[in-house]
Amino acid sequence: MELLSIETKRLNIRHLALSDLADFHSYRSNPEVTKYQGFDVMTMEEAETFIKDNSTKQFGRAGEWVQYAIENKATGKLIGDCAIKLDQFDTRVSEIGITISHLEQKKGFAKEALLSILSFLFDKKGVHRVVEIVDAENLASLNLLKSTGFRQEGHFIENVFFKGKWGSEFQYAMLKREWDERRGWHPA
Ligand SMILES: CC(C)(COP(=O)(O)OP(=O)(O)OC[C@H]1O[C@@H](n2cnc3c(N)ncnc32)[C@H](O)[C@@H]1OP(=O)(O)O)[C@@H](O)C(=O)NCCC(=O)NCCS
Repeated sequence: MELLSIETKRLNIRHLALSDLADFHSYRSNPEVTKYQGFDVMTMEEAETFIKDNSTKQFGRAGEWVQYAIENKATGKLIGDCAIKLDQFDTRVSEIGITISHLEQKKGFAKEALLSILSFLFDKKGVHRVVEIVDAENLASLNLLKSTGFRQEGHFIENVFFKGKWGSEFQYAMLKREWDERRGWHPA
């Protein structure tokens, strides 16, 4: 099994563990955090089941979403998580998603994590294209994607029915060559 482990200035990105349960549940049970996401708030039992189910998954399997822990190195605490999927039909295409605890937002953690994940996928794993799909009203996420250099390439109008209404989404993407071009303006 391939163990993913990425270290940045302030963060460790690693496999989720049952010892993360309390921190994981603290933000996954917050409706503000899950507002624009495909999943809903979780009970402690659901969070535990999620971590257990996730522990059998591993990086590199086509079509499988794997959730990773984002840990603050200074405190050793879980402050968020990120999901990575390699495309079912071509593992050189990847999709990602990221969540930061409501208590730790706007401190640059998501950007730091996302840049390190992009470096891992593009520079170490030979990925050609990374995609993120985001709710059209999710301003924080849209700013994060723009700030890390993603390019908007799709706008789907009322394409998903979730949480009681039709929602619209943007698709953002980055290619390996765009990542290489941007290397000059951000510390990966
Ligand atoms: C989106 C999210 C991951 C951003 O995390 P974060 O750690 O607060 O983001 P950062 O501090 O790294 O900020 C990244 C950029 O987004 C901007 N930003 C962050 N939160 C913002 C907000 N609420 N409103 C407007 N802009 C925001 C920052 O100003 C920064 O821009 P800059 O680099 O130009 O200064 C976080 O808000 C979150 O987890 N939201 C809930 C989960 C979610 O919807 N995830 C996306 C779906 S996959």
